[in-house]
Amino acid sequence: MRQMMVAGNWKMHGSVAFTQEMIALLQSKVAIKENVTLLVCPPSVFLAQAVQAAAGSEVRIGAQNLSDVAAPGAYTGEVAGFMLSDIGCQYVIVGHSERRALYGETNEIVATKTKMAIDAGLTPIVCVGETLTERENGHAESIIAAQLDAVSACIGVDGWRSVVLAYEPVWAIGTGKTATPEQAQAIHAFIRAHLAKLDVTVAASISILYGGSVKPDNAAAIFSQSDVDGGLIGGAALNGDDFARIYAAAAAL
Ligand code: 13P
Repeated sequence: MRQMMVAGNWKMHGSVAFTQEMIALLQSKVAIKENVTLLVCPPSVFLAQAVQAAAGSEVRIGAQNLSDVAAPGAYTGEVAGFMLSDIGCQYVIVGHSERRALYGETNEIVATKTKMAIDAGLTPIVCVGETLTERENGHAESIIAAQLDAVSACIGVDGWRSVVLAYEPVWAIGTGKTATPEQAQAIHAFIRAHLAKLDVTVAASISILYGGSVKPDNAAAIFSQSDVDGGLIGGAALNGDDFARIYAAAAAL
């Protein structure tokens, strides 16, 4: 059975007080199920605090980004993977579409960051997905294949064993437009079939999250698709009650 995950990507939201309150709320509200990881990804300045607040509980903490450089050096503003591991982070989101679109992260940079994360002992949550134009032009699968292939070229077949994937259609992020459960399932199945060309075991065992306007009222339908292993949640992860309900939808499966 594949591990499921419900992950909250706070993006550039939060504060010291919010971090404390949200983690306390999740600890009190969420009944953790062993095969459903609960992950919170605050902005980097709140990570150490989040790790401390979550200590001793089943709430896991992840970063939203890491440097593509591994060793310490003159890289102003960068945060290396080993630093995230050092403070107790276990996961890091890599290649979110906002980083690809707004900060120039190419498939190659995303691939390098994926390797940096693995080398630092972190589990990268590698995001892939197409824009609306790409989908309308019939290019969704080829875009996603290229995103996956760049990562494969960098981490090799074995590297995939340490990766969680997230399919996030760009047109569904923050728009209130969710992929239908069938649309999500179709791409998740495509991703698994594409990875199966490398290794059938890797393809069968990798967790693939869906992200894009997941809310308490649509989570169960999406998560119940056979190739969907949970979600990467943006807006709804900023509301503790909503996030707890989304987790409960995954735990109920
Ligand atoms: P929303 O849930 O706000 O659409 O964001 C999805 C996302 O980008 C998670 O990484």
